[in-house]
Amino acid sequence: MCGIVAYTGIRPALPILISGLKRLEYRGYDSAGIAVETKDRIVIRKSKGKVKELSGLLGEDETDLAESNCGIAHTRWATHGPPTTENAHPHAGGKNGIALVHNGIIENHRALRDKLTAAGYLFLSETDTEVLAHLVDSLYQGDLLDAVIAALKEVEGTFGIACMVHAEPGTLIVARRGSPIVLGVGENGTIVASDASAIIKHTRQAIYLDDNDVAQIKGSELDIRSLDAGSVSRQPAEIDWSADAAEKGGYEHYMLKEIFEQPESIRNTLRGRLDSNRGNALLSGLNLNPRELAELHRVLIVGCGTSMNAGLVGEYAIEDFAGVLAEVEQAAEFRYRNPIVNSSDLVVAISQSGETADTLAAVREATDKGALVSGLVNTVGSTIARETGRGVYLHAGPEISVASTKAFTSQVSVLLMMALKFARSRRMSRDAGCQFVKEIKAIPGLVERVLEQNDAIAKVAERYLDQTSAFFIGRGYMYPVALEGALKLKEISYIHAEGYHAAELKHGPIALLEKDVPVIALCNDGPGKDKTLGNVAECQARDSRVLGIVTEGDSEAIATVDDHITVPACPLHTAVVPSTVALQLLSYHIARLKGCSIDQPRNLAKSVTVE
Ligand code: AGP
Ligand code: GLU
Repeated sequence: MCGIVAYTGIRPALPILISGLKRLEYRGYDSAGIAVETKDRIVIRKSKGKVKELSGLLGEDETDLAESNCGIAHTRWATHGPPTTENAHPHAGGKNGIALVHNGIIENHRALRDKLTAAGYLFLSETDTEVLAHLVDSLYQGDLLDAVIAALKEVEGTFGIACMVHAEPGTLIVARRGSPIVLGVGENGTIVASDASAIIKHTRQAIYLDDNDVAQIKGSELDIRSLDAGSVSRQPAEIDWSADAAEKGGYEHYMLKEIFEQPESIRNTLRGRLDSNRGNALLSGLNLNPRELAELHRVLIVGCGTSMNAGLVGEYAIEDFAGVLAEVEQAAEFRYRNPIVNSSDLVVAISQSGETADTLAAVREATDKGALVSGLVNTVGSTIARETGRGVYLHAGPEISVASTKAFTSQVSVLLMMALKFARSRRMSRDAGCQFVKEIKAIPGLVERVLEQNDAIAKVAERYLDQTSAFFIGRGYMYPVALEGALKLKEISYIHAEGYHAAELKHGPIALLEKDVPVIALCNDGPGKDKTLGNVAECQARDSRVLGIVTEGDSEAIATVDDHITVPACPLHTAVVPSTVALQLLSYHIARLKGCSIDQPRNLAKSVTVE
C-alpha cells in the first residue's frame, strides 16, 4: 500500500530517505513525510501532496538535518482521515519524542484512542496510526523494542511500521503483520523499506520479515524477534533484478515502458519452461508429478483486478485443453463465502505484488481447508510466494506503473503453460502438445507486431477522448480481454468503462448506448466472431461508434466496424495477449491526450494490502 523507508548507519540519512520515497511513490502518493534524528531532538517534516512538495520543505542550509544518520520516511495512501498535512506520517507519540510511520490499518483504533485520550494524550490527526504512536509512548520505559512489542500485542489489524525515539540514537524498530517490510543489509548500515525497489540501489541482500516479526536495527546489527516466539533468524535473499529495471529508461511513463517491455518480459516468463520435443511445459515450481496432476479434481483460481482477469483466461484454457474443471473467483469473495474446497483441488493464487490482502486471505483459507495451494506471483520473496511454497514466478521484472500491464501478459503466458501441462498429463497427444508449445512461443513476436502500431493506435485514441463512458465487449477468450480493457481505461483515463460479454450487452447495458457512448469490440477471427459482428451491428444501430480489434487482413470485420486496430492472425487463446496489448496502448494514449496522471492515477495504490 503506502511506502515506508528508513535508514540507520554511517551515511547521511536524508538523501537515502528522499530517493527511497521517490521510488516508492507509486505505492501511495497523497502525502509524504520524514523524521530524522538530530542532536537535540527528532525533527519531523511532512506535507500534503507528492514527495517533491516534501523536498521543498527541507532547507539546504539545515546542517543538523543533513548530518543525520538515522531517519524514517513515508508516502501515504489514506485509509483513515483525508490526505492532509496533519494526517501525513510520521506521527509523534506523547512526550518521549517517538516518531512512527505505518502502513496498514489499526482496526481497534477507536477503543485505543478512547483509552489514550482518557490517559491525557492529545491527538493531532484523524489517523489510526497516531494511536499506535501514542500507545508505544505510553508503554515506553527506556527500551523502544520492549515498548513496540507490548504495543503490538494490543493492536488488531495490519501493519508495517518503522519507529524511533530520541533517547536511543541510531536505533530503529520495525515490524510487520500483513504489510511487507524488507531490510536491505549493507556494511555501512541498514535500509528498511516496504518494497525492495527502494533498497536495490544500495544493496541486493534483502531480508524479508515474516508476519509478527519485530526487528531492532542499530547500523548493520539486527536483532529479530517474533511476537509469538522470541529471537528468530531470517536469512538474506539476493534480489535478482537491477536498479535500472525500476527506472523509466527514457520513456515518458512507467506504463509505456512496461507496455513496450512485454516481448522481453514474456520471453523471460517462458524461458526454460517449454519443452519443444515432448510438447510439454516444465513448471517445476508447481511441484506436482504427472500422477498428482492426473488426479487433480479441480483448479480454483483466485485473484483481484487485473490478476483476476488473467485468471479467467486460465479458467477457459484449463477446461478447454486439459478437460479439468476450473473456476476463477474474486479472492475476497472466496474467503468470506466459505467455498467448498478439498484436498484434490489445486488453488492458484494470482498476484503481481504477492501482497494483496484479499488474495493472501484466500490463500490462507484454502490452506486451512486442505487444498494444494500454489502462487502465480511476480514479486520474489513476497508474502504469497512464501506462504504458498509452490508455484510459478512470472519473472516479468518490477512493475511500477499502478496500472498493471506486463504482469497480465506474463500471467496469461503462465496459465497457458499450466493448461498445457495439465492437458499433457491427460488426453493431449505429444503432437498437439508440440503445436501448443509453438503457439505459446510465438506470443512475444505477436506483441512486437502490435507495438509497431503504436503511432496508429495513438491516432485512433484521438477519436475517443471526449467520451465519458465506453463499453468493451468480447466472447470466449476475448471476454476477459474486454474486462481488462475496460479496467485499464477507467483506472488511468477516468472514463467510465464497463467490460461485458458481447451477448450480455442486450440484456440491459444496451439501454445506455447512444451517439457519444462508444463500444470497443474484440472481433478477432475465430469461433464467435460472426456473432460478435452481429452485436457490433446492434450497437451501431443505436448510434454508438465501434472500434474493433480485428485480425490482420479480415476485410469483413474491418468493413463492419467504424475504426479498427489490427492484431496478427493466431489462435484465440494466444490472441488474448496481443489484443490486450492493443487495448493497453489505446488506454495509455487516451489518458496521455487527456493529460491524466498515468503512473499514479487518483485514489489508487499499486498494492492493496488492506481489505
Ligand atoms: C491493475 O491495473 C490494478 N491496478 C489492480 O486491479 C491490480 O491488478 C489488483 O490490485 C491486484 O494486484 P496484485 O496482482 O498485485 O495482487
Ligand atoms: N491507515 C494509515 C493512514 O490512513 C496508513 C495508511 C497507509 O498505509 O498509507 O494514515
